[in-house]
Amino acid sequence: MNRIPMIAGNWKMFKTKDDALAFIYAVNVKVPEKEKVESVICAPAIFLRDLVKREGEDLRIGAQNMHELDEGAYTGEISAGMLKSYGVEYVVIGHSERREYYNETDESVNKKLIQAVRHEITPIVCVGESLEIRENGTTNTFVKDQVVKAYQNVTEKEALETVIAYEPIWAIGTGKTATPEQANETIKAIRDVLVELYGTTVAEQIRILYGGSVKPNNVDELLAQSDIDGALVGGASLDPDSFLTLVNAALNK
Ligand code: 13P
Repeated sequence: MNRIPMIAGNWKMFKTKDDALAFIYAVNVKVPEKEKVESVICAPAIFLRDLVKREGEDLRIGAQNMHELDEGAYTGEISAGMLKSYGVEYVVIGHSERREYYNETDESVNKKLIQAVRHEITPIVCVGESLEIRENGTTNTFVKDQVVKAYQNVTEKEALETVIAYEPIWAIGTGKTATPEQANETIKAIRDVLVELYGTTVAEQIRILYGGSVKPNNVDELLAQSDIDGALVGGASLDPDSFLTLVNAALNK
């Protein structure tokens, strides 16, 4: 088992162009080699062109969403082909904010996942439960079901090109992190589903990140867990020093 740890920043709807460029200049040459840690910034679509131009070998740029179809009359949307034509290599799919505010469903997540891999863009596929589900004890069943639906009709080869992010909704932006053990347990349950779908060899190669209030002061204990392969980070990815602390922490994984 040799999964390269990944730290992916999700900037959400933060920063202006100047902030975004200042971040890239500050961080670009300081991130670890990509063979040791995969460092990714998922930026608002409008910054992607400028950021990709300035990304280094070891800091890669991703989008936060894309449309599931090749093209069409979908005002305001961006296709996988458009992202690819600008050299964007990652895309966040099915973030809980998109599921909650923009009606993304398991079905659209599945279509987007397939569309991304067909365009050789690595999807970071988000799953995670609400507080209500956590409290009624059905987290693993709920999250497993999200994974099964996201990977419907996805071949073994395609699955290997994907990354999963387990983000409990109650831990996003709240300062409440899942305990490392809680996060690891659910991530193990996700890996069990992947074993059922694709067998052990494939399942053990797919990276599963944790997301939800990951900060420099809790990243070490999260990454110390057996099945947590990295982090998808919101707030703490906005500041260059904070992001660098996170990617450097992953060196010890
Ligand atoms: P925070 O790290 O700000 O909690 O956000 C997590 C997240 O939603 C990343 O996609």
